[in-house]
Amino acid sequence: MNRTLMIIKPDGVAKQVIGEILRRVEGEGFTIRQLRLTRLSVEEAAAFYALHKERPFYGELVKFMTSGPVVPMVLERTSAVAHLRQFIGATDSTKAAPGTIRREFGTDVQCNAVHASDSDENAAQEIEFFFGKNA
Ligand code: RTP
Ligand code: MG
Repeated sequence: MNRTLMIIKPDGVAKQVIGEILRRVEGEGFTIRQLRLTRLSVEEAAAFYALHKERPFYGELVKFMTSGPVVPMVLERTSAVAHLRQFIGATDSTKAAPGTIRREFGTDVQCNAVHASDSDENAAQEIEFFFGKNA
């Protein structure tokens, strides 16, 4: 078993699909270990996505991630990081495979419904970011 961090982004919360996304995630064999609803400050969103600060879309990304509440959660499963990345689909919702979370609930390359950690190392950091060292 290992753990990963998923966030339902502001577009997913606004669409009122929190319950539907959680149902699918649980149906895929993930156990929800931590969950909360919060609104990121500009400083928090900028820090969370700091690895993208040189990218042209960084400013827009921070604006988007602070545009409404988000739902971060810790999910546990075998091969949690790789399995969740596969299950959410490609970054661009219009190109994500049918049946994936981003294809079903996202809109485009920015408003793609969810975030998922991309490595065990980043998962540990991101879990600490939202839930503290002892999560
Ligand atoms: P995430 O970190 O949110 O799980 O997404 P990801 O790994 O699939 O994609 P990443 O390259 O890490 O991008 C982070 C988020 O930035 C927004 N984005 N906008 N306008 C654009 O071209 C663009 N590209 C990426 C998306 O919200 C993406 O999930
Ligand atoms: Mg990423």
